[in-house]
Amino acid sequence: MPRRTALALTLLAASWSLHAAEPVKIGFLVKQAEEPWFQDEWRFAEQAAKDKGFTLVKIGIPNGEKMMAAIDNLAAQKAVGFVICAPDVKLGVAVNRAAKRHNLKVMSVDDQLVDGAGKPVADIPHMGISGYEIGKQVGAGLLAEMKARGWKLDEVGVLRVAFDQLPTAKDRTLGAADALKAAGVPAANIVDAPQAKTDTESAFNAANIAFTKNGKFKRWVAFGLNDEAALGAVRAAEGRGIKADAMLAIGIGGSQTAMNEFTKATPTALFGTVLISPKRHGYETAAAVYDWATTGKAPAPLTLTSGVLMTRQNQVELRRQMGL
Ligand code: GLA
Repeated sequence: MPRRTALALTLLAASWSLHAAEPVKIGFLVKQAEEPWFQDEWRFAEQAAKDKGFTLVKIGIPNGEKMMAAIDNLAAQKAVGFVICAPDVKLGVAVNRAAKRHNLKVMSVDDQLVDGAGKPVADIPHMGISGYEIGKQVGAGLLAEMKARGWKLDEVGVLRVAFDQLPTAKDRTLGAADALKAAGVPAANIVDAPQAKTDTESAFNAANIAFTKNGKFKRWVAFGLNDEAALGAVRAAEGRGIKADAMLAIGIGGSQTAMNEFTKATPTALFGTVLISPKRHGYETAAAVYDWATTGKAPAPLTLTSGVLMTRQNQVELRRQMGL
């Protein structure tokens, strides 16, 4: 064999083995990296990475520009796919196009991506919660506790901290409102408090405005799309002297935001939360994208996960059962 050919072959083999040694990379992009729910999802995705032997690339994407840059960045790092909870679900077509351009597998988590007409992007598999059903569980939890306290349904104000531009948020809060109405709460008692973002501060501001406008109610129940929304309402009520004896809120999530409240010595008005599974959402989506990219086996098009009502009383046991 001529020396030059031998050398070329050696170099080729070396580059091959280098390539083989590089671990597979999967991205996990989330809209609100500072929120405990997303921290938990990342933690369980890391677990999947460890179990399956890939590298997880975690990137916070608070807006569309950062999101597009993150996808390009993943491609530059030779990632093979990513899981995404986008800052705006209407970016669905842009996400799909960018993923295809870079030959990356993509799956959404929590917030399902939609196209220009508001329809789910068909070729992006999704895992999220069954929003309306979980909302109904929130409503049922509030009703049970109102009953236990002997509150008259027609005298209670219902604060719906709303973020209706996000379909899952709308589903969750409408599920709760429908459960209350079905039990006899007058529709007129339901007060919408639209929040600008899905964090506690925005919910606090939204709730404050709603309380100011509706001073006639002496007792309140509140809910929103997540624990942060419910907590914002609780904090706003406290600021007006409406404490746990006159206010009840149930969130959705069950991560640290709720746990901080449940472990306070004096119970606050955050009565409960519907515990959902960051473990399933984080672990299963990351693992599914890895399998898809490496074996060609596509994830199920749609997986909806369920929840269970958690309160101060059952939190230790429930979190243990859920492996949290
Ligand atoms: C949305 C919310 C998050 C969390 C997830 C759970 O993304 O913004 O706070 O509730 O859904 O699926």
